[in-house]
Formats: sequence, structure tokens, C-alpha cells
Amino acid sequence: MSNIPEKAQFAIINKFGGPEVFEINERTLPEIKPNQILIKVTATSINPIDWKQRKGNHKLILGSPFPITLGYDVSGIVVKTGEQITLFKTGDKVVGVLDNKYGGAYGQFAVGTENCFTHLPLELDETDAAAFPMVTLTALQALRDVVNLQPRQTIIVNGASGGVGHIALQIAQLMNANVIAVASSKSESFVRSFEPNEFIDYTKQSILNTNQQVDVFFDVVGNYSFPKTKHFLKNGGIYLNLNYIDSLLKSPLNKLHQIFTKGKKAKTLLMKHVPEDLELIKTWMLEGKLNVHIDQIFELNQIIAAHQYAEKGHSKGKNIIKMPA
Ligand SMILES: NC(=O)c1ccc[n+]([C@@H]2O[C@H](COP(=O)([O-])OP(=O)(O)OC[C@H]3O[C@@H](n4cnc5c(N)ncnc54)[C@H](OP(=O)(O)O)[C@@H]3O)[C@@H](O)[C@H]2O)c1
Repeated sequence: MSNIPEKAQFAIINKFGGPEVFEINERTLPEIKPNQILIKVTATSINPIDWKQRKGNHKLILGSPFPITLGYDVSGIVVKTGEQITLFKTGDKVVGVLDNKYGGAYGQFAVGTENCFTHLPLELDETDAAAFPMVTLTALQALRDVVNLQPRQTIIVNGASGGVGHIALQIAQLMNANVIAVASSKSESFVRSFEPNEFIDYTKQSILNTNQQVDVFFDVVGNYSFPKTKHFLKNGGIYLNLNYIDSLLKSPLNKLHQIFTKGKKAKTLLMKHVPEDLELIKTWMLEGKLNVHIDQIFELNQIIAAHQYAEKGHSKGKNIIKMPA
């Protein structure tokens, strides 16, 4: 307790907007509730939800409680535990996805409830670990729980070089599915390093013209739609769009299209905090079955450049933000 400072550095926003709205400020540490832990953050990583929230895309749902600290992925060391905490103690290294409104990982200290975290094994690098929680949980829950992907089924992963995409293609392979990976020419060698069954360069060939029939179209990027892609889904096939809010808005139209499509379905998902899933992911990573690729590592004071880079939407894997020690 005594080595916890009263104030620390945070990247905060006081208004919604472009990357330039970030300010680095000395601020009082967040308070923990009885079911939360306080973490000295080693690193966080950027997910598209961070820059969507920075722009104010979720303000109708989450409000505008400025100053806001964004960021969900976190790796670090537990420095304080609420009285209801049983799984973690001070000094434990942990990794997870925060469950607060707007996150709160872009600072030297962060809080979250117990079920957001898992212990970080010694074998995994503390900085790199910040890259994996959200994208691996999302890809696992999408393929196992929403799609129920089966061996020898064929899946298209659209956006195969990005954070979720490069994990989805590895998990689909762990499930013994045939994987067709879609990305640009610039990402081809990176995506091919994961040995998908097929690679489609979207800058040269439209997926819409494919003559294949597939079981699943995993639209990670979210730039297609169920009505446009249902013609290449097998009977009973699934179109899965990761853009949750957009999918909810399109749900009535998709339901109408489902009536005429022999069991084909449009689905979406919202990542859930499931500690057992984090355990499984850790096991795969320790066994070398799942690799999270780090594209860039930024310092906290480079947060503007980090968001400018990530928001272009052409990262290979993940971008990390390291906190000052
Ligand atoms: N619902 C949930 O719970 C949940 C959870 C996590 C993420 N998401 C959402 O999932 C989406 C993807 O997240 P992410 O972390 O994977 O993002 P990301 O890392 O920024 O992904 C970017 C990837 O998209 C590819 N891409 C860009 N334009 C493309 C196009 N026209 N066709 C095909 N691929 C294209 C890029 O490949 P090239 O560089 O080769 O163009 C790049 O590799 C975001 O919208 C995010 O909000 C949802």
C-alpha cells in the first residue's frame, strides 16, 4: 500500500474527437470497490473500440463522463485488492480486459473486477501480454460459441491480418476448419505465415465473386452484409459480423432475409468476460499453438501517434502502449 503514489500519469480526453484530443495528465488514482483490484499497469493495447469511443460513437449509450480514460486490454501487477477478492493478491502479475464504462487502461494504474483477469505466467512477456485479451476472447467466443465451427467446415475470415483476424484464423485451424483468409497484398506474406488453406487479396479480387460455398463468413472488418453474402453460404451457413451495434440495427432486415434462405443466419457477438476462456487461451499460447503478433509498441506519451496509426485500420496484429515505469 505504502508504495502506491497519490497521483500518476494518465492519457485522458476531455472531449470527443480525433487523436489530438488526448492529453497526458497527472491524476488521482481510481478508487477500488470491494470486488475490484487496483493494477499498476505495465502495458495496454489498442482495440478499434478505443478509437470509436474517443470519437464519441458510444456517447448515447455511455454518456460523456469527462475526463475519460480509454482502453480495455491491460497487463500489470496487482497493488491493492478489494475485501471480496479471493483469486488475486498484491504482487500478482495479471492480464485481462477491463469492464468499466470506457475501460480505463490508458494510465499507470487501472481497476477492474476479479472476473476480468487471469494470472500472467512467467513465460509470457508482460508488455506483449497486453496484446492478447480482447482479440483472443472475441475470436474464441465467435468461433466456438456463436458459430460452433466444426472440423472440415470452411470459413472465410475477412480482415485476416488485423488484431482479431490473425487470431481467428489460428483458432479456426486449431478447430481443424479450412480457412480462407482475406486481406490486402501488403498483408499477404504476414497472413500466409499462418498457412491458411487459401488467401484472397481483396485489392485484386472481390469476395462477392467467389464460386465457393462456405459454412461461415466471419466478417471481422464488417464491410459486407448478410444480404450481399448469403449467396455463397451453404444451407445452414452463418454470416458473422463483429460490428455489434451496426448488426443490431440491421437485425430486422437480416431476419427478413433469413426467411428465404434455407437456414442461413446472420449473427453478431459482444465479447464476454470469461476467466476460463482466458485460461484456455493462455494454455494455447504457452503450448505455442496460438501466437499474437505485435505490430508497433508506443510509449504513453506517443498516444496520439499510436491512435493515428491504429485507426488507419491496416495493422498487422496488435499495437501496444507501454506505461512509464
Ligand atoms: N463485438 C465485439 O465484441 C468485438 C470485439 C473486438 C473487436 N470488434 C470489432 O472488430 C473489428 C476488427 O477489430 P480488429 O482489432 O481486428 O481491427 P484491426 O486490427 O484494426 O483490423 C484491421 C484489419 O482489417 C483489414 N482490412 C481493412 N480494410 C479491409 C477490407 N476492405 N477488406 C478486408 N480487410 C480489410 C486490414 O488488412 P489490410 O491491412 O491487409 O487491409 C487489417 O489487417 C472492429 O470493428 C472492432 O471494433 C468487436
